[in-house]
Amino acid sequence: MAKDLIPSDITSGLSTAFIGQKIIYYSSLPSTMDAARQEIQQGAAEGTVIIAGNQTAGKGRRERQWLSPPGNIALSIILYPDIKAVPYLIMVASIAAGQSIEAISGRCPQIKWPNDILVDGKKVCGILIENEVKGNNIAFSIIGIGINVDLNVADYPEIANTAASLKPGPGKGDLRVKIIRSLLIEFEKLYCQLLDGKVIFEAWRNKLVTIGKKVRATSGNHIVEGIAESADESGALIIRGADGTVTKVVAGDVTLRE
Ligand code: BTN
Repeated sequence: MAKDLIPSDITSGLSTAFIGQKIIYYSSLPSTMDAARQEIQQGAAEGTVIIAGNQTAGKGRRERQWLSPPGNIALSIILYPDIKAVPYLIMVASIAAGQSIEAISGRCPQIKWPNDILVDGKKVCGILIENEVKGNNIAFSIIGIGINVDLNVADYPEIANTAASLKPGPGKGDLRVKIIRSLLIEFEKLYCQLLDGKVIFEAWRNKLVTIGKKVRATSGNHIVEGIAESADESGALIIRGADGTVTKVVAGDVTLRE
């Protein structure tokens, strides 16, 4: 059984101004997304992070379940962004997650559109963003990040062929603590750059493994097949079909085809 994380191991000397300066830790809870909503109702400050040792009802994109047994990383970051920043939050989260995985594990993560982080072609991290719109503004955004750590994927038939996990090495310290600290620092750096008007989109697009590949994209009942030519600034994937038609896919899932 994985040890409980100790929030002060994460916050101690953490070089951020606000992201992760307050961490609320639960050994086990249904989902950090719901806990974050409750904290927002109690007036949580921007950058508050909810972390779970284990989620019993982890939420994935498109109403899917997200497995996060003890030992995994499951966290949600509370933000109160300007509405103009919202389309770019997924880019901030994906780049930050990829960079922290690379820095700490030495693996070479890639981003699969729209927001999966892969190592060796398999999913090691998923990101879920929930935004609450109020009139013309955003009341809050919750950035949920799940990273597979020390997970024996073969024990879970539903993900055995598609998921990967980071393995703690012989080095000292808890791999989860190192990744979370790095993630929070990278996230704040990119989020502040975004709020300062820096273009995040190009860095995200350059890390997309999807570009140039033959793909099948599913968006609602709609299926689009072709070559993923690019992604535009709004985050949409641009697919050119065999007949030359160009389709912009704004939301959905893609399968990479050989
Ligand atoms: C996906 O790839 O479908 C997104 C997975 C997001 C999982 C994370 S784990 C922390 C946070 N809490 C949840 O219930 N889901 C997100």
